Amino acid sequence: MNKGVGINEANQTLTPQLKVTGGRKLSGEVRISGAKNSALVLMAASLLTDDDINLRNVPPLTDIACMSNILLSLGAKLDHRVDNLSINSSNLNNSSPSYELVNSLRASFFCIGSLLARMGIAQVPLPGGCRIGTRPVAEHIRGLHALGAKIEIEHGLVSAVITSPQHRLRGTNIQLRCPSVGATETILMAAVLAEGETVIENAAREPEVTDLIGLLTAMGANIHGTGTSTIKVIGVRRLHGADYSVIPDRIEAGTFLLAAAITKSKLRIAPFIPEHLTAVIDKLQEAGCILKQDGIGVIIQANELKSVSFTTQPFPGFPTDLQAPFMSMLTMAKGASLITEKIYENRLQHVPELQRMGASIVLHKDTALIKGVSKLSAAPVTASDLRASAALVLASLVADGTTYIRGLYHLDRGYAFMEKKLRSLGAYIDRLNP
Ligand code: EPZ
Repeated sequence: MNKGVGINEANQTLTPQLKVTGGRKLSGEVRISGAKNSALVLMAASLLTDDDINLRNVPPLTDIACMSNILLSLGAKLDHRVDNLSINSSNLNNSSPSYELVNSLRASFFCIGSLLARMGIAQVPLPGGCRIGTRPVAEHIRGLHALGAKIEIEHGLVSAVITSPQHRLRGTNIQLRCPSVGATETILMAAVLAEGETVIENAAREPEVTDLIGLLTAMGANIHGTGTSTIKVIGVRRLHGADYSVIPDRIEAGTFLLAAAITKSKLRIAPFIPEHLTAVIDKLQEAGCILKQDGIGVIIQANELKSVSFTTQPFPGFPTDLQAPFMSMLTMAKGASLITEKIYENRLQHVPELQRMGASIVLHKDTALIKGVSKLSAAPVTASDLRASAALVLASLVADGTTYIRGLYHLDRGYAFMEKKLRSLGAYIDRLNP
């Protein structure tokens, strides 16, 4: 008899959801897609030249489709075949993406840097907050202003204009108040075509920032200090075309490491760049997992899980994007774990859903105390945001019975073929009403 939660399938017919029956071990190998948070900004950077930019290993995600629509609305030409995306921005005819498009994808705000540098003007709606936090863009704007842009913010629209007779921004020193990934990327994309030298202090060091520098350098930019918190950019007059491959998605890779850990399975995950996830690898090993790198991928073997604690931090610290999936794993670990979320003020919304599945979690401000339990039980749950959706999928893999997960709109933004990949590893998972 299926230990479902007595929800008859009838009233579920309309809502897309995942149906997951827990209790299966996973085995085999999973291929990691290109990184969402790199591909998005590389697409924004393609606006900096009127030559072709060919991006390879672009993940098939709804966020990528949103960014494609934004580039199309600006006049770019796109040719998307499987995971190759060719972009030509030689006939840009619009420097103001619509509110509807920007509102559906925060990262589109990062286009303001490349649009301004390329067209001398950019009018981009303020992205506004999202479910995980207010997410201001003050540092993006402060950086563009420091580079000489005239900035006006009215009616929810940020207008940035180059007023210098040379029609170029002017290099300068910028000390970021927080090592914001997006602000670092926006300023980088503006500074590469500026006059003179720009130094960004307290810059973000995330691998996605390094990947952006990789593409810009391939386009002819002159950048120093890659991977450090001090980046120096010497502006050039023009950038040319390039052919570039997006790095593997470290957050997707981390999520599959945690799928192996929570199901106490052995999996090979590839491609995998260990330097992109050192803090996570350390915590997995502390929790009792064994990880073996083979130069291309990593093999993880998990047995009894032990409690560990961590605080989310900018790279190379523990990534906030893996906080929720890691919490799911710790609900099944022996002992008590403490997780503190320091990057976003509202990124613990997965907790009530995990509690519905029988997890023992106590929240106090930005900290969660997780006491390991011997089993989770299936329940109908709803994802509140992208990484929360991954946390619920992981919990459902071990829950007793059949779990129904709603809010797949979030999952599809950042995980390519999640259920197909899990099914190929042996999970009982189906998408209802796709
Ligand atoms: C990027 O967001 C990622 N998104 C996020 O991933 C990720 O969580 C984040 O970096 C941190 O690693 C993309 O790359 C598209 P931030 P971003 O600017 O650039 C504050 C996911 O799940 N801040 O580094 O928006 C901000 O409020 C997503 O894939 C300011 O105060 O992140 C936040 O608390 C979610 N003022 C902190 O900095 C600013 O001007 C980090 O934000 C900018 C940011």
